[in-house]
Amino acid sequence: MTDSPFSETLRNATWGDHSEAEAGIYLKELMAGRLSPEVYGEMIAQHYFAYVALDGAGRALADDPVAAPFVLPEIFREEALVRDLTTVYGPSWRDRITPSKSTLTLVARLNQMADWPGGYVAHHYTRYLGDMSGGQFIRMELQKIYGYQRGGGVDFYYFDIGSLPRFKQEYRGKLDAMPIGDDEKQRIIRETRLAYQLNTEVLTDLGRALRTETAA
Ligand code: HEM
Repeated sequence: MTDSPFSETLRNATWGDHSEAEAGIYLKELMAGRLSPEVYGEMIAQHYFAYVALDGAGRALADDPVAAPFVLPEIFREEALVRDLTTVYGPSWRDRITPSKSTLTLVARLNQMADWPGGYVAHHYTRYLGDMSGGQFIRMELQKIYGYQRGGGVDFYYFDIGSLPRFKQEYRGKLDAMPIGDDEKQRIIRETRLAYQLNTEVLTDLGRALRTETAA
């Protein structure tokens, strides 16, 4: 391992995977304003299943010394995602949504993380720091496109934690302070790359569904 802080090593080692995650057709079409609210809702629905699993693993690890600093019930996403799904699909949203195959794969991996604190951190970082970073740009675009206000539609991009830049700086400090050795750090880097891949596959599936719709 280099002498760089772990947060920096992790970011550098996975930034290539990030480029792939943001490059897919679904996000491109979404950002261009070419998708109906219902098709945007498909992404929220997949996030719903993933976050319920991720935060479920967090609950199981709340007393673990490695995971505990990252288990923050005040930012758990389920309630915000339910508000968003209710806004897009109405009160019977639950009957409208199904996990895609790639979401089921991601959820299965997330469930396994309840037994591996370092792996939980890898997935937590990939989703939460992503939604707090590029996600903020995506939220602003979505608000322009669909006119959503706070209260439902894009609530899962809102975090009640005060200053986001300060939170992210503290988050990186927690990554740097993790009480683990170099081998575990390497495993976490590998798991973060997998997390990117699994999340990217969810977006790829959503993109594939778009092509099917266009072809139909
Ligand atoms: C349109 C799509 C996206 C854009 C424009 C975007 C953009 C960005 C930008 C500009 C940053 C750096 C922010 C900063 O340094 O404070 C960032 C960070 C990040 N993004 Fe994305 N992103 C996108 C999609 C994604 C996706 C799909 C994921 C994960 C599945 C993701 C995960 C992350 C993570 C984990 C970070 C934090 C990296 C770090 O600083 O350690 N992003 N994103």
